[in-house]
Amino acid sequence: MDNLVSLAKRRGFIFQGSEIYGGMPGIYDYGHYGTLLKDNIRAAWLKHMIQLRDDVYGLDSAIFMHPTTWVASGHVGNFDDPQIDCRNCKNRMRADHILESFGINADKAPIEVINAELDKLRAAKKLKCTNCGSSDLTPARKFSLMVKSNLGSPTDALTEENVVYLRPETCGGIYLQYKNTLDSLHPHLPFGIAQVGKAFRNEISARQFIFRTREFEQMELQYFLKKEDVEKTYEYWKNTRFEWYVAHGISRESLRFYKHEKLAHYASQAWDIEYNFKSLEGFKEVEGIHARGDWDLSQHSKFSGVDLSYFDEETKQRFIPHIVETSAGLNRLVLMFLDHAYTEDEVNGEKRVFLKLPFALAPVKAAIFPLLKNKPVLVAKAREIYEMLREKFMVEFDDNGNIGKRYRRQDEIGTPYCITVDFDTIEKDAGVTVRNRDTGVQERVKIEELVGRLK
Ligand code: GAP
Repeated sequence: MDNLVSLAKRRGFIFQGSEIYGGMPGIYDYGHYGTLLKDNIRAAWLKHMIQLRDDVYGLDSAIFMHPTTWVASGHVGNFDDPQIDCRNCKNRMRADHILESFGINADKAPIEVINAELDKLRAAKKLKCTNCGSSDLTPARKFSLMVKSNLGSPTDALTEENVVYLRPETCGGIYLQYKNTLDSLHPHLPFGIAQVGKAFRNEISARQFIFRTREFEQMELQYFLKKEDVEKTYEYWKNTRFEWYVAHGISRESLRFYKHEKLAHYASQAWDIEYNFKSLEGFKEVEGIHARGDWDLSQHSKFSGVDLSYFDEETKQRFIPHIVETSAGLNRLVLMFLDHAYTEDEVNGEKRVFLKLPFALAPVKAAIFPLLKNKPVLVAKAREIYEMLREKFMVEFDDNGNIGKRYRRQDEIGTPYCITVDFDTIEKDAGVTVRNRDTGVQERVKIEELVGRLK
């Protein structure tokens, strides 16, 4: 993790939020290459969900929604984590995570059960602060993850009457626009609505770099279908999403499914796709796939008074569709792809760090160099190639330092190809040298073939 965090900062991928003011826990900003990488992951997901399918539509719903949305969804009443504090160093911890470190699964357990388990550890003198080691810890208590604001309220005060919430998940917006999508695009079941956007959670312990943050982006699909199709469609989405990771370069053996045994009362199935993070030393959730029944639309129908049922022309029946959801964290996938791509090897006896990112996700696809910075003829030709390629690909021109230094920089940002213009390019019209990031192998490629080869 230390290596990744330092590379991410050094090379302009990810910075601590508000760093000059001492930083804010669980808040990160994305620099030039981080933004490009995140955009490419988002684009790959949208292509898979929308461009390559006939049955999924896009949406970009607002972060702010009517506050009743989150009462109907159960978030206002129930979206909390068990918090425990150290009286000695004021460290704040997730009680369920502490129990998990002792092999006790407290996922969705009531607070009384969590405190009973903590008491057993306390009695055995095993319960310690994860920061200072003190045994002086408070009992666990529920801590709401909802982030509040006072948008448009007549007073500054945040009271239950005037509060609005920053959405804790993006799917709420999809449920609220299900009817408009139906009425404007007239899809037949089954169909899906996909959206990527920001979500906010007041996470108790946001300490694992961008793995768990307080502001993050989700990529969610809500797939509406008939109840009798849920079982087979659920399997379909589980496998389709798993294969998406493999198709984007994540090795099969570093992925696995995790089945949730304790389910929300409305859910019939919940599985996570987990990735084996080197930086977090183990398998962790990157995406959840949930069969949510007809609960969401039923709740919003009930609370809004608007009929959200679907009329099936074939059977002439009216019913509330069921939902299968796939929900991935975009920032968490940035960490996963960086973690998977981070590679160290040795070239000519020197340690080399490079990001083995797949071409589609790499922030920069190729870098173009003149062999020598002070030879105008080389610089002009390299610039000409750069101008030609940038129309089609995200590419960079670099004439700083020597070729070795430029390779090292491009390796660290994961650029798959480096293209060098030398004297043979000019004098013999002998093409350019294209160096492969992963193998270091160099080959001569004709200039007119570059676009095709990169494609
Ligand atoms: N709508 C369902 C839902 O939100 P979730 O399991 O709470 O389900 C889905 O979240 C995904 O969102 C997770 O698998 C994770 O990738 C991402 N995610 C959740 N909380 C996050 C956080 N605090 N920081 C970064 N990513 C988060």
